[in-house]
Amino acid sequence: MFKFKKKTENENVELNSSEVTSEQVAPNKEAAPSEVAPELVFKNVSNEPINKDNREVVVSVQHVDIEFGRGKKRFKAVTDASFDIYKGETFSLVGESGSGKTTIGRAIMRINPCAAGNIYFKGKRISGKLSNEEKREFTKKIQMVFQDPAASLNERATIDYIVSEGLYNFHLYKDEKDRIAKVEKIINEVGLLPEHLTRYPHEFSGGQRQRVGLARAIVMEPEFIVADEPISALDVSIRAQILNLLKKFQEEKGLTYLFIAHDLSIVRFISDRIAVIHKGRIVEIAESEELFNYPLHPYTRSLMSAIPVPDPQIEKNKTLFVYDPSIHDYSVHKPELVYIGHNHYIYGNEEEIQHYMAIREGKISE
Ligand SMILES: Nc1ncnc2c1ncn2[C@@H]1O[C@H](COP(=O)(O)OP(=O)(O)OP(=O)(O)O)[C@@H](O)[C@H]1O
Ligand SMILES: [Mg+2]
Repeated sequence: MFKFKKKTENENVELNSSEVTSEQVAPNKEAAPSEVAPELVFKNVSNEPINKDNREVVVSVQHVDIEFGRGKKRFKAVTDASFDIYKGETFSLVGESGSGKTTIGRAIMRINPCAAGNIYFKGKRISGKLSNEEKREFTKKIQMVFQDPAASLNERATIDYIVSEGLYNFHLYKDEKDRIAKVEKIINEVGLLPEHLTRYPHEFSGGQRQRVGLARAIVMEPEFIVADEPISALDVSIRAQILNLLKKFQEEKGLTYLFIAHDLSIVRFISDRIAVIHKGRIVEIAESEELFNYPLHPYTRSLMSAIPVPDPQIEKNKTLFVYDPSIHDYSVHKPELVYIGHNHYIYGNEEEIQHYMAIREGKISE
């Protein structure tokens, strides 16, 4: 079976293939000798335990650094990223362009290697060196949906081939009849028709292409999907359709999502929890409503103030809150991501955390 190269923004990556390059570039010196996930520990300054409902952790990102380039050109795109994603939830990663969102998504996909830290899937380490058998297993269970369905679908392949590629690579069908049945079922489920299967991506609209992108991921029966800005390239009028499809699959198949976006307003209603990332550093994590009611980190507040208000009068007179990172003095007391209760984590040093907690508990207004 021949393989098509899959295009992404940065490089060619063969998706659904077992030959992922994670450990070839930078062997992870910090990798734990054990395969089993240790619990991710945060400093807890509240009087409630973290994850008090004891929810199952599907993906655990633990103290992950991701670097690009070598020598003088070495550049740290992600620093000490840590978070757990619970089963069945939509966990969103939000931050401005270049903040490292895709880089983290690709590290979970084993495309970017971790320079430090580890990533676990259902308790098993998936970063660093793995056996071929383990690679096959995780590549199947973790799928990705891309921002630009035009760039991520191979223009020379039929929809039938694009949707079947992972099935071919992993031999996930009994015979040709079974493969066709699987592909036709998923193509119906994403709202396309079996007669579309013989066509090519350029014959479709952006929204339809993203349906193909979804079909290609879901046909693998994954447990976890990294959805990297799946609606950003689409017309506003069809964005809701794709979001509804994602929601439908989540409910029907119990899927867990990492949803990447650069705009808080998009993720408010679809996320269970939101992590805010600034220049490769996660600065705040909270449940969606908690974050909107109590944005504590100044960067989160600047993202909030950028959300347009429907009232034109208020919108016109609104002052945008601009984040100035130089307000933090970390020369003496070092910052870390701290749990402050209410399923809310915030990055700061001791004084800042005290201040943020006082705001959260309503003891001071600013
Ligand atoms: N393959 C690569 N080689 C070198 N640098 C890279 C590579 N991939 C990403 N970077 C750099 O890492 C940083 C984070 O990039 P990333 O694509 O993760 O940002 P992002 O948050 O997804 O942004 P956007 O919202 O624009 O998609 C950027 O400075 C980017 O230039
Ligand atoms: Mg990106």
